[in-house]
Amino acid sequence: MYAIFRTPHGRPGQNTGPFGQGQLQCEACHGPGDDHAGRVRRGQERPPVPHFASSGTGSAEAGNAQCLACHGSDVGFGWHDAAHNFEDLACVDCHRLHDPFDPVRQADSQADVCYECHQPTRTEMHKAFAHPVVEDKMACTSCHSPHGDVVGSELVRATVNETCDQCHAEKRGPYLWEHAPVAEDCTTCHSPHGSNQPAMLTQRAPVLCQSCHSQTGHPSVAMDTGGLASGTPSRFLLGESCLNCHSQVHGSNHPSGSKLMR
Ligand code: HEC
Ligand code: HEC
Ligand code: HEC
Ligand code: HEC
Ligand code: HEC
Ligand code: HEC
Ligand code: HEC
Ligand code: HEC
Ligand code: HEC
Repeated sequence: MYAIFRTPHGRPGQNTGPFGQGQLQCEACHGPGDDHAGRVRRGQERPPVPHFASSGTGSAEAGNAQCLACHGSDVGFGWHDAAHNFEDLACVDCHRLHDPFDPVRQADSQADVCYECHQPTRTEMHKAFAHPVVEDKMACTSCHSPHGDVVGSELVRATVNETCDQCHAEKRGPYLWEHAPVAEDCTTCHSPHGSNQPAMLTQRAPVLCQSCHSQTGHPSVAMDTGGLASGTPSRFLLGESCLNCHSQVHGSNHPSGSKLMR
């Protein structure tokens, strides 16, 4: 219980913290503890510490209000619109306040806290090609903002592409010849967490490409009896498939790169 004094909340010198001068100490978080600390008759159960949905008596909202009284400006601003708020999550569903190493704020233990509720994401992160969260080289918060800091998004940037661009700036362009779906949303072709296709693709080429492009009239069709989508694959579709020729799938800066071939 007193491990709280080894956390940022326990600093007596910090006037804005629970143990600062004029603050309510334990009660800054737990709320009035008179009933809990008061006399209890034999056989009667001691009233629990108020608030905190996960360990106490109150609703998530009431518990959160205790925290937001101090964290209204740093967290509360996004929290108002956060998916986690709409789902009635409590701050303490994620945070362990008496633990000097709050697991959700450590890169190597954060994901496990999230997986308690997001099992499908766990499965994706363990697929053959995935962002290195399992290896602790990244955390969920490399991309996500659990408090919904950016209005209208649970991501650390306003859009998916801006989020990816933080680390994959070379895919951002601007390109002389853009590929429309790339400029629009990286996740039309990539699973953001992980997939069983190389490069975390949602599907392999040619299926991926042909989900949008028809084979009709394609110049390589005439060179092959079967055509692009036939049962006997064209020699042009072996290996890297469409990418054999259209290698610049994210966009091209070559003057004659309009077909994304160079
Ligand atoms: C910054 C907010 C905060 C402060 C300050 C705080 N607590 Fe807590 N306390 C919590 C939360 C949240 C929980 C729920 C469990 C958790 O998060 O670890 C909790 C849980 C507890 C529990 C339940 C048992 C346990 O350890 O999980 C006891 C008892 C307790 N606190 C006593 C105290 C006492 C005594 C003080 C003052 C010395 C204090 N708390 C100060 C937030 C706080
Ligand atoms: C009395 C005001 C007060 C209350 C109540 C309070 N906090 Fe804090 N909290 C602080 C201060 C001050 C810090 C230290 C900030 C710093 O060092 O930059 C802090 C730090 C934190 C941190 C760690 C931030 C860091 O930079 O290390 C977390 C997480 C946090 N609070 C969550 C909570 C939660 C969840 C609750 C409700 C259970 C809560 N706080 C209640 C004032 C408060
Ligand atoms: C879904 C899990 C989750 C919930 C719910 C949650 N937090 Fe957090 N919180 C985190 C994570 C993860 C971090 C670490 C962020 C990082 O490393 O960038 C964090 C960081 C913080 C910090 C440190 C400063 C900052 O913004 O990075 C404070 C303070 C904080 N949370 C307070 C709260 C309060 C108050 C609530 C409830 C209103 C809350 N949190 C609800 C997961 C959560
Ligand atoms: C106590 C359960 C719980 C925990 C812990 C939790 N979440 Fe959530 N989260 C939810 C619920 C419920 C929703 C809304 C329903 C849904 O989309 O699954 C949600 C929604 C989300 C969304 C938005 C999904 C969408 O549809 O837009 C993201 C992103 C997310 N959580 C990430 C995280 C991350 C990252 C963590 C860990 C830091 C975390 N969650 C921890 C319960 C939780
Ligand atoms: C490389 C960036 C990245 C990382 C790392 C990441 N996510 Fe996501 N996540 C995304 C994107 C992008 C989306 C789709 C958001 C959209 O379309 O608005 C998403 C969607 C989600 C959703 C909504 C449901 C779904 O699967 O579409 C949840 C829940 C979620 N992420 C949880 C997590 C958790 C938990 C972790 C850590 C284990 C994590 N994410 C790590 C980028 C990431
Ligand atoms: C915080 C940095 C970061 C962010 C943000 C990020 N990534 Fe990554 N990405 C990485 C790292 C690190 C790797 C692994 C690189 C390696 O293993 O060589 C990776 C790998 C990949 C790969 C596989 C590369 C390969 O060679 O197989 C793809 C595809 C990818 N990311 C797409 C995305 C998309 C789409 C987004 C946005 C939803 C995104 N990334 C956001 C850091 C990031
Ligand atoms: C039209 C589908 C499509 C879209 C949309 C797309 N990619 Fe890709 N991406 C691919 C394909 C196909 C590969 C495999 C390329 C290869 O094997 O040469 C790939 C490979 C990658 C790689 C790993 C190999 C490399 O070239 O570094 C990264 C990283 C990557 N994409 C990031 C992104 C980002 C970031 C976005 C959004 C800005 C994005 N992709 C949008 C199809 C797409
Ligand atoms: C989500 C749909 C979508 C997917 C998936 C997709 N594309 Fe595209 N692609 C488009 C759109 C839209 C355009 C722009 C068409 C236009 O301007 O007429 C385009 C343009 C192109 C062009 C230039 C066409 C021209 O007329 O100049 C080539 C080449 C191309 N895509 C190849 C590919 C390849 C190869 C893949 C698979 C790795 C792929 N595309 C996946 C939607 C997609
Ligand atoms: C053998 C090389 C080759 C392969 C393999 C190939 N293409 Fe092409 N593609 C071309 C050439 C050449 C053009 C026409 C370029 C021009 O007119 O300047 C073209 C043009 C296109 C265009 C622009 C529209 C059009 O018909 O002119 C699209 C879209 C396209 N290819 C998609 C694909 C897709 C999807 C695949 C895989 C299913 C694929 N290509 C495989 C060589 C190839």
